[in-house]
Amino acid sequence: MASTPYTPRVAIVTGAAQGIGLSIVRQLAQDGIDIAVNDLPSKLDKIHEVVDEIRSSGRKCIAVPADISSEEQVKNMVETTARELGSVDIMVANAGIAAAMSTLLETTTENFDAVYAVNIRGTFLCFQQAAKQMIKEGHGGRLIGASSAAGKEVLLNLTAYSASKFAIRGLTQSAAKELGSYGITANAYAPGLILTPLLGETTGDKDSVDEAVKTVKKVMGIPDDAGVADPEVVADFVSYICKPSSRFITGQTISVDGGLRFS
Ligand SMILES: NC(=O)c1ccc[n+]([C@@H]2O[C@H](COP(=O)([O-])OP(=O)(O)OC[C@H]3O[C@@H](n4cnc5c(N)ncnc54)[C@H](O)[C@@H]3O)[C@@H](O)[C@H]2O)c1
Repeated sequence: MASTPYTPRVAIVTGAAQGIGLSIVRQLAQDGIDIAVNDLPSKLDKIHEVVDEIRSSGRKCIAVPADISSEEQVKNMVETTARELGSVDIMVANAGIAAAMSTLLETTTENFDAVYAVNIRGTFLCFQQAAKQMIKEGHGGRLIGASSAAGKEVLLNLTAYSASKFAIRGLTQSAAKELGSYGITANAYAPGLILTPLLGETTGDKDSVDEAVKTVKKVMGIPDDAGVADPEVVADFVSYICKPSSRFITGQTISVDGGLRFS
């Protein structure tokens, strides 16, 4: 008979000042997990608002502002969390950027590197530093990455972003293969159209979510009848994958997209 699995109790969530990350923070706190809230240092006020909200619900919560593309800042973020909250059991490497929409022919090296620095280097650093801490603590853990429907089948005019979201799946599989013997699972979510500020920031339609959705569908070649959802649908998946009972699921990138892609 397998021994009783460890119950994860401390999570770091990156890019959590808004959107999907914020929704994950709220859900995990509701599940009884203490949280380190990360976002860019320039969003410190918003990070503190989230921390205050979670603390007032009775959970321990700290602010860990950091740019996840910086190795030193990610190391500090993990060390601070372990010191102040007692361990690091869950890393939700959620932060990601889409930057400007552009085709393969038009994508500049600067744009490509900027997207890769956050989406891939950032996720790699978060997985690596959290895994080192989890191995030191010796009770396993959960690594969770943010892929996308665009990481299952490319979207038009989103070359660097789509490629980076395919790469998240590779990184997730590498982590799952390498770290399984430590009791660490690695999985990712692949959302479809989720109503967050990201959509408006990508299309330039910052004032109207409906316009942003229309533009995204048109420019990226997504069918008109594709559904949209609030970030809670992703947070619910993360909640499940953090539970002790999910310990036998690893290396997966799960579509949370209303049926956009069947893979
Ligand atoms: N919204 C969608 O439809 C959708 C679909 C598929 C995948 N995703 C992915 O889900 C994740 C969350 O998306 P969202 O819609 O909530 O985005 P969002 O833009 O609303 O929030 C992302 C957060 O990440 C933060 N961030 C950006 N760069 C950072 C860095 N270097 N270090 C730390 N934080 C940083 C931003 O400040 C922002 O608060 C992203 O990885 C995104 O690519 C979103």
